[in-house]
Amino acid sequence: MHPDTLAQLRRDSVPLFNANRMKIGIFGCNVSNGGTISKAPTSHRPTFAHNLLIAQTADRLGLEFLVPFGRWKSFGGETEYNGDCMEVYTWAAALAARTEKIMLFATSHVSTMHPILAAKQGATIDHISNGRWGLNVVCGWYAAEMEMFGERQSPHDERYARAGEWVEVVKRLWCENHFDHVGEHYRVTDGYLEPKPVQQPYPVIVNAGVSAAGRDFSARHVDFNFITMDSVESAASIAADVRQRAHGYHREIGVLGYGFILVRDTECEARAAFNAIIEAGDWGAARNIMRVLGMESDSFNAQIEQFARRFVAGWGGYLMVGTPESVTAQFVALARAGVEGMALVWQDYAQELPYFGERVLPLMRQAGLRI
Ligand SMILES: Cc1cc2nc3c(=O)[nH]c(=O)nc-3n(C[C@H](O)[C@H](O)[C@H](O)COP(=O)(O)O)c2cc1C
Repeated sequence: MHPDTLAQLRRDSVPLFNANRMKIGIFGCNVSNGGTISKAPTSHRPTFAHNLLIAQTADRLGLEFLVPFGRWKSFGGETEYNGDCMEVYTWAAALAARTEKIMLFATSHVSTMHPILAAKQGATIDHISNGRWGLNVVCGWYAAEMEMFGERQSPHDERYARAGEWVEVVKRLWCENHFDHVGEHYRVTDGYLEPKPVQQPYPVIVNAGVSAAGRDFSARHVDFNFITMDSVESAASIAADVRQRAHGYHREIGVLGYGFILVRDTECEARAAFNAIIEAGDWGAARNIMRVLGMESDSFNAQIEQFARRFVAGWGGYLMVGTPESVTAQFVALARAGVEGMALVWQDYAQELPYFGERVLPLMRQAGLRI
């Protein structure tokens, strides 16, 4: 059996490998305004006390994971969007100590952290959490963040080549001792790391590569890829592509998605709440981000404006706006398309999670998506 298949079998106790057909995660609660680029009123704060409330609520509801944004700088706009944020490894370590079952990820930029430090901090959090830590590898696309570190942003595909070497070093530290590594970007002499992580042979690794190079990196090196989809049809074809790429490397890979969720008793209420968020959009920040992502020319044409609405609510992820019943139907369709879990943005995580627990989770259980 290929070692990576074996790796999966030895991590049965990890929430992302449980029997639920649709795993649920919380996405981006460590940053100001979370994943909602809007001035609409919210109780959300990127403080530790508030994040602890969210994490413990999610833990009590039996959700599988929390994945933070790896962020170093604001995107400007009236909200100074995401500028106020907590560092991801220390955040995960502290939440790990105060939760029971939920997984905590650290979203780690390759170029801001040496692989030895990433492996060491990750192994330590895996011990603090008793095997509930995960690594979300990101290459960095916001040049101003990377330049703050004195790093020149390298061309897109080269970032993934470096990430491949980075993650190989991290894995070796988790699995071996007394090895030498001489690569293009890193040199490790007599590599050593103890204690090894609780998860054997190493903690769950995820990545959100969307480009061909990104998907290929995921297929080759990680356990789950976060796909970006705007419809069930695109989810099905992207999920199939990612899995096929992994098979090309004789590996299996899981597929997760991300999106924005807003659930109310009636469609009318849900639409009204959604429209209020969009109307209060922090367009200055949204434009800044889209400019960095290369999505915008100088003017806001109709097509971009349409996309911008999806962008303001959940970073261009999958939109889940409706009643408990209609949102559950969306989860069913996504599961059929091969999506095994969703990392979700709520406009007000702490306020809205209890309703999700009371009204949506029971329907998901009835639909056979969750035990
Ligand atoms: C669910 C998800 C989480 C992400 N988290 C971060 C993050 O916290 N920090 C970051 O710089 N990029 C983050 N990204 C960006 C990805 O790492 C990646 O660069 C992006 O999806 C574009 O794919 P590409 O690099 O293949 O072009 C995230 C993307 C997704 C979909």
